[in-house]
Amino acid sequence: MNFPTTRQVRWLIKPVWFLACLAPFVWLTLAVFGLAGLSLGADPIEETQDFIGIWALRLLLVTLALTPLRLLTGQVWLIQLRRMTGLYVLFYVSIHFLNYLIPDQGLDLGAITEDIVERSFITLGIAALTCLIVLGITSTHGWRRRLGRRWQKLHRLVYAIGILACTHFWWQVKLDTLEPTIYAGILAVLLGVRVYFRLIKNRKAQQS
Ligand code: HEM
Repeated sequence: MNFPTTRQVRWLIKPVWFLACLAPFVWLTLAVFGLAGLSLGADPIEETQDFIGIWALRLLLVTLALTPLRLLTGQVWLIQLRRMTGLYVLFYVSIHFLNYLIPDQGLDLGAITEDIVERSFITLGIAALTCLIVLGITSTHGWRRRLGRRWQKLHRLVYAIGILACTHFWWQVKLDTLEPTIYAGILAVLLGVRVYFRLIKNRKAQQS
């Protein structure tokens, strides 16, 4: 018998994965209300921005890791977690964006426009969010059917989102670039594995 079976993926792995992806949001909610001994510290707005931003990036990298992991391990079910994880990225980036718009900028449209134009890392963040919204909307079966072959091409935007997100992180760091370098390195490895498998596939196609 195959492990895991379709039933196990549907009724066990997916719900567990759903709860795991929700954990940062639960942590944030508890910290906002000062429950379970958690707190957001002296600057709750910045702490929320950073905490949610980093989790959005981590889950984005997890989304990008699922296909290489499937290719390396042959575990096809991993692909079934991709849509849910990607939608969680959109969820966390939306909170990150709303935290910036409302508590941070007080919905001051003038200041926000100035920020988007003058601070390059904000411009990149907005570009990444826009692409994520497009992917989120078109992630359904209906859109997949409607777009046919173009769906796959459109969803390659996720690689651009990875690059935008890592650069966004890098550009907003003032001194210590170690953390963004590590995330950018992970992204480079994940994209490299895909390129490697693509080259192998092309070579096999040429030989046959
Ligand atoms: C895919 C989209 C995005 C991802 C993955 C992302 C991720 C991140 C990460 C990892 C950080 C740094 C956290 C840390 O220092 O520990 C960050 C900071 C930040 N991001 Fe984003 N972000 C995205 C989009 C946006 C958008 C759309 C905005 C607002 C327009 C935004 C505004 C900010 C701000 C203001 C900071 C904090 C800068 C500071 O602490 O000085 N981000 N983001």
